[in-house]
Amino acid sequence: MSICFINGSFEDKSSASISIQDRGFNFSDGVYEVMSFQKNKIINFDKHIKRLDRSLNSLRIIKPMRNFKSLELIIKKLIKLNHLRDGFLYLQITRGSSSRNHLFPSLINPNIVIFTFSIKLDVKMIKNGVNVMLSDDLRWKRCDIKSISLLPNVLEKQNAHENGMYESWQKRDNLITEGSTSNAFIVNSKNEIQTHPANNYILGGVTRDTVIDLAKNSKFIVKEKAFTKSELFKCREAFLTSTTARILPVISVDNKKIFNGKPGEITKTLITKYNELIKSQSHE
Ligand code: PDD
Repeated sequence: MSICFINGSFEDKSSASISIQDRGFNFSDGVYEVMSFQKNKIINFDKHIKRLDRSLNSLRIIKPMRNFKSLELIIKKLIKLNHLRDGFLYLQITRGSSSRNHLFPSLINPNIVIFTFSIKLDVKMIKNGVNVMLSDDLRWKRCDIKSISLLPNVLEKQNAHENGMYESWQKRDNLITEGSTSNAFIVNSKNEIQTHPANNYILGGVTRDTVIDLAKNSKFIVKEKAFTKSELFKCREAFLTSTTARILPVISVDNKKIFNGKPGEITKTLITKYNELIKSQSHE
């Protein structure tokens, strides 16, 4: 039996239910987070909470818990109830349930749902890298909010999959913004690590943030400046980051090899450093 947390209680996931008038269901009026945990420790919890708080404030959704310490306790209990040590969790908060009206209802309690899930890390993809395609970024101009409104992302991910690619890197005005489910990086011709700045055109990924800190601490130069398609095809290395995929080398874009078509040395160094960091955070 898989247990989820729903509006204050722990319930069997297969029978837990939410109103059909939930505004997340009717309007995508909600936010979410995906976190990973190892040895029962939530990785980068503070960064996820900071982003969740920002997303909620941006959409003026009331927090369903008094403070984020209580949320941490709820998540730890959920992990325990599911007899898990390593895995991922999905947390969703919507504005709440009420009769359908675009206007915010004046009296409403947010709906919160948390459930755990597992994905096996694909060792082959980490070792050999992945293929990526390019697409136009069709999303709105508040991609910094981790909203549950993910239609363009879903369509792009599916499109990439049907074209035999792992991911689709989106471009706006000839600048690469980010992937449909991950952030995009290159190592440019000056050996600098380059990625789109964390503004309203991308989701400021927790993994992105962590990788930038790791890179700077390892004396690499990091440039938070968007790169063009032609800069991408001239780069020495490319990689992508997300909570679920961690760091994956990108070896081709639109069927054109990136440099020699093999995972780069800086990418491999960052993968090692990121794995060490996760180990240190989940130290018992
Ligand atoms: N996706 N950009 C987009 C559009 C994303 O959906 C994600 C994550 C990221 C990376 O963010 P982070 O490093 O905080 O996971 C960037 C999650 C994993 C998802 O929707 O499943």
